[in-house]
Amino acid sequence: MTFRAREIRLTSRPSGVPTADNFAVAEVELPDPAQGQALVRNLWMSVDPYMRGRMYDRESYVPPFQIGEALQGGAIGEVVASSDPSLQKGDLVESFLGWREAFIAPAGSLQKLPAHNVAPQAFLGVLGMPGLTAYAGLLEIGQPQAGNTVFVSGGAGAVGSVVAQIAKIKGCKVVASVGSEEKARWLKSAGVDEVVNYKSCGNLLEAVRVAAPNGIDVYFDNVGGDHLEVALEVANPFARFVECGMISQYNNLSSQPGPNNLFYIVGKSLKLQGFIVIQFQHLRDKFVADMTQWIGEGRMKWEETVFSGIENAPSAFIGLFSGANTGKMLVKLA
Ligand SMILES: NC(=O)c1ccc[n+]([C@@H]2O[C@H](COP(=O)([O-])OP(=O)(O)OC[C@H]3O[C@@H](n4cnc5c(N)ncnc54)[C@H](OP(=O)(O)O)[C@@H]3O)[C@@H](O)[C@H]2O)c1
Repeated sequence: MTFRAREIRLTSRPSGVPTADNFAVAEVELPDPAQGQALVRNLWMSVDPYMRGRMYDRESYVPPFQIGEALQGGAIGEVVASSDPSLQKGDLVESFLGWREAFIAPAGSLQKLPAHNVAPQAFLGVLGMPGLTAYAGLLEIGQPQAGNTVFVSGGAGAVGSVVAQIAKIKGCKVVASVGSEEKARWLKSAGVDEVVNYKSCGNLLEAVRVAAPNGIDVYFDNVGGDHLEVALEVANPFARFVECGMISQYNNLSSQPGPNNLFYIVGKSLKLQGFIVIQFQHLRDKFVADMTQWIGEGRMKWEETVFSGIENAPSAFIGLFSGANTGKMLVKLA
């Protein structure tokens, strides 16, 4: 018996912000799984800003996507058929084979989801890669102390909203920047002290100065560019800068001038450290345990923005660059 499934392929490398014509839907036929394999129907897939980096043809910490091939990314699926005793029909599994409705893979390459009372797609967000990014970046690099002020850009996103709430749990004052009033309202309702709408505030530096009159001790950077420059300006001596992402730069058509105040790194004795979440896989069990506890105590809230259907995955991805998501951007496939 064959199984028909659609997938999204990259048809051209984006120039600037990606557009729909950089992608195409294709249909494939999947045979029965061979010995040791499973056939999985994806239920949810993730779109993430780092995927933009894989659309450039350049060396990085992950290889570039290839033209004409299906894209890849985090996904949660259900086993439809298995020829391996480790997986049964109906099992929920996590894979890196998103951007397709179904796939066949070696059973050993699939992670069975742990029993949990949250919806499975939370393992693509608050309990998954973005959650671990927030947890490890903030706690290991940011080293927040009770009473510190933490500034997080991209504050209403998948990573940023978790950073903001962990910082609150650790007894910090939290200032977040976001791109809409609706996002600001949500973060306030989740307990964030001060939220700056960088699109409407007029002068970001002044707005952050007002929100953090005693300066900042930790900056969690999701945005780069003007936000990084502002953070350098308001940083207290010995502040820690967690360089997680720079989404404002990902679609640049030419190189942009960097922050013009990098000299503060010396004068204020700042520490800036970039990281990639895979470097913190060893924290996964502790992260899941802590996050599960915080969720159970009602101290961790999350939002999802959901596009439906594989054909809408490119729109969901493109939407990341205009702030179309509050919380985790997801595509529901089945
Ligand atoms: N280092 C790592 O291992 C790692 C892992 C995961 C993610 N990241 C990085 O973490 C950051 C957040 O990722 P995420 O998955 O949580 O995405 P996200 O924040 O859920 O979604 C992206 C958000 O970025 C904001 N944005 C888009 N363009 C912007 C611009 N030009 N200036 C300011 N804000 C802009 C938008 O929110 P607004 O409406 O607020 O503008 C948008 O909703 C990204 O930079 C990503 O690359 C790094």
